[in-house]
Amino acid sequence: MDKYLKSNRALWDEWTGINYRSDFYRVADFKAGLNKLRPYEIAEIGPVDGKQLLHLQCHFGLDTLCWARLGARVTGIDFSDAAISQARALAQDVGLDARFVQSDIYELPHNLEGDFDIVYTSRGVLNWLPDLDRWGKVAAHFVRPGGFFYITEIHPIALVFDDDEGVRDLRLRYAYFTQPEPISVATKGSYADRNARVTQEVEYGWNHALGEIVTALTTAGLHIDFLHEFPFAEWPISFLRPAADGTHRLPPEHDGKLPLFFSLKASKPP
Ligand SMILES: C[S@@+](CC[C@H](N)C(=O)[O-])C[C@H]1O[C@@H](n2cnc3c(N)ncnc32)[C@H](O)[C@@H]1O
Repeated sequence: MDKYLKSNRALWDEWTGINYRSDFYRVADFKAGLNKLRPYEIAEIGPVDGKQLLHLQCHFGLDTLCWARLGARVTGIDFSDAAISQARALAQDVGLDARFVQSDIYELPHNLEGDFDIVYTSRGVLNWLPDLDRWGKVAAHFVRPGGFFYITEIHPIALVFDDDEGVRDLRLRYAYFTQPEPISVATKGSYADRNARVTQEVEYGWNHALGEIVTALTTAGLHIDFLHEFPFAEWPISFLRPAADGTHRLPPEHDGKLPLFFSLKASKPP
């Protein structure tokens, strides 16, 4: 495994426990019955009852288990040992049937057999991946003929602006187009708890243009059903303002002018 992925994996191992205990993830509310999936993804994906669903980069399985609660037969995969152990424990805790597999996404075809009605991934996944062509091939590999792939993710345009703490206006800082070298960011706790103590000092990430995301999937043989762009983000960023519905939006003078999140569905022909 490449040195950047290794370092990120160690970081995710550390973040898992912090995130599990954080207010951001609301695990206690989930245990009490809260479904953490967003209404738009539930509507866009449609009924999952009895369907086989593979969740790529599932973290500690919270969203995976929300799909299980809606009736899907779920498999979650993640490269973090800590996340997969936590996911298994959480499934047992809430009495849901789920399978969790520890694997780097790029190695998954060697570690998991079969295909799925739905291959799902969401919120904070692509930025950790250096190579989207290989990602697209893995995603398509696991979609059953007649099935589909679905992603909801931060829009790449939202990742070009300076997001340092205290920066409240839009300042172009990062390349929209993928760069071969990762963006290195000094770790500050976890995104779910900025005050948490973490020993891994750097996060490595890659921005990916929307064209690159779409092309990775179509080159792998999937057909795009839709690509929806939304004027809100699902987490705070320094230049966004919290909205009443729990999302985060551009300040009033720019609200609605740029996409900040997207969803995409792509099918494999029967
Ligand atoms: C922000 S989480 C996304 C899951 C979900 N949206 C959430 O918030 O719980 C990103 C996940 O990607 C995983 N990840 C990062 N790089 C990976 C890789 N190369 N292979 C498999 N998983 C990876 C991390 O371990 C982490 O659990």
